[in-house]
Amino acid sequence: MKRGGSDEQKRRAGEAAADAVDDGQVVGLGTGSTAAHAIRALGRAVDSGLDIEGVPTSYQSRELARDAGIPLTTLDEATPDIAIDGADQVADGDLIKGGGAAHAREKLVDAAADRLLVVADDSKLADRLSVPVPVEVMPDAREPVAARVRELEGDPELRAAERKDGPVVTDNGNLVLDCDFGEVDDPGRLAADLSAIPGVLEHGLFVDLADAIYVGTDEDVTVREP
Ligand code: 5RP
Repeated sequence: MKRGGSDEQKRRAGEAAADAVDDGQVVGLGTGSTAAHAIRALGRAVDSGLDIEGVPTSYQSRELARDAGIPLTTLDEATPDIAIDGADQVADGDLIKGGGAAHAREKLVDAAADRLLVVADDSKLADRLSVPVPVEVMPDAREPVAARVRELEGDPELRAAERKDGPVVTDNGNLVLDCDFGEVDDPGRLAADLSAIPGVLEHGLFVDLADAIYVGTDEDVTVREP
């Protein structure tokens, strides 16, 4: 499921987005290898005196933030001013996320933030969204959700774990169906259809949420505003 360009491209994107964080802000901390560069850069800035608090989007980002020395808070205590998060594919400012199976908490934090900065290498850019859409389902809902996804002309596949027998189990104790819809003509419509299925906790279509896309290339970073 993981794909992408070079670590150098990811680093450029992550560090450029971290530079956009101001003193005193609450920052949503995304998940994945590109967001990890932003978290490490923010940690270095905190070492140098930047006063921020982070809201992690996953076990991974919480651990990284703790290692980096970023003070943490929760959505119970604070609303993020800004969130920095990765993506598996970006088209017209809409995203498919969930390659790390963290999309439920990512969407919660990213949507709560005043601004969402997406960080990606240029291999993630596409004309149309087309990679499989991760759908987090309650364990009991796996078959009914898969049947409904087929009715929506998707092809659901239970995500298998690596270095563990059986399926991926999310930070929330659920399963992930990677649902291949081919090219998605109407991301907003598909997002609504998936959200309406009983037993779906969250899906990886992020529609109209991104405020800026930081794209790392071999030379530099370009910032796109949808
Ligand atoms: C995790 C995500 C990640 O942000 C997405 O998979 C991109 O990861 P990477 O930056 O490692 O390519 O959505 O659920």
